[in-house]
Amino acid sequence: MSKAFAVIGDPIDHSLSPNIHSAAFREMDLDCSYIAYRIPKDELKDGIEGLKKIQIRGFNVTIPHKVEMMKYVDKLDESCSLIGAVNTVENKDGVLKGYNTDMDGFLEPFKKKDIPIKDSKVLLLGAGGAARAIVAGFAKEKASNITIANRTLQKAEELSEFSKKIGLNAIPMKIEDVGDSAQNYDIIVNATSIGLKNEDSPISFDSLKENTVVYDIVYMPMNTDFIKKAKEKGAKIIFGYEMLLGQAVRAFEIWHDMEAPYNAMKKALLGGV
Ligand SMILES: NC(=O)c1ccc[n+]([C@@H]2O[C@H](COP(=O)([O-])OP(=O)(O)OC[C@H]3O[C@@H](n4cnc5c(N)ncnc54)[C@H](OP(=O)(O)O)[C@@H]3O)[C@@H](O)[C@H]2O)c1
Repeated sequence: MSKAFAVIGDPIDHSLSPNIHSAAFREMDLDCSYIAYRIPKDELKDGIEGLKKIQIRGFNVTIPHKVEMMKYVDKLDESCSLIGAVNTVENKDGVLKGYNTDMDGFLEPFKKKDIPIKDSKVLLLGAGGAARAIVAGFAKEKASNITIANRTLQKAEELSEFSKKIGLNAIPMKIEDVGDSAQNYDIIVNATSIGLKNEDSPISFDSLKENTVVYDIVYMPMNTDFIKKAKEKGAKIIFGYEMLLGQAVRAFEIWHDMEAPYNAMKKALLGGV
């Protein structure tokens, strides 16, 4: 029987996941299909019942259901308990297991490009859901310390507390107080949604040292102002699509128990960006 997969969320029509996973199925000659399924905010419970009825094998979860989904899975991988949100679900004979691939997806480009994280000084912009997974990633890879800069200081403070609890020294600040301090860091990450609407970079790169790693997790547009300005200063760039791809690869491996066809998935993704 053909195996069905999906991504759920609202809005969902611009999701790139169906393209990426369908390309992987073609490449590996798998009898599988992957659809985007809109489930409005208050209809998650019924939506999941529907997916179980059609014996969905797995699904991705996006805005606004990532936190709420914690309630509806039968088992939680430790990645979810740490981050407090589910973005990938595996269905084994009606038993749903939740995973969070944000952290692995974020770290994947560092591994692929052999960029070390250990002992590095990190500046993280943003303190939302993705930022939390990123903090967990830097803690796992033993960065030296992290400065968390956010528009709302209180959220930066809360995320700094989480960071310290899992063993990574953290300093919270307001994003406008970053000023011209780019030179003080080895890795700078944008995990705010600034850039989605072509906004200017939230920080100055005037003092940026060459070869600093600059990573924007916003993937649409691909060349945000943040990326363009960092490139001009000779930074090593990691694009948001690389994280997205890292997550799709991880989801594929959870569901199919085999190595994902990275190049075919990358081709499908870049064709769609
Ligand atoms: N590449 C990938 O695979 C990937 C994965 C996950 C997320 N993302 C992208 O990452 C971004 C953040 O996602 P999320 O899930 O963490 O969202 P979220 O939980 O809603 O957090 C949004 C963050 O952006 C900040 N922000 C929003 N508008 C701002 C503005 N005008 N000025 C300054 N700060 C602003 C928020 O600051 P406040 O706390 O002050 O509101 C908060 O820190 C989104 O663009 C999403 O598409 C990409």
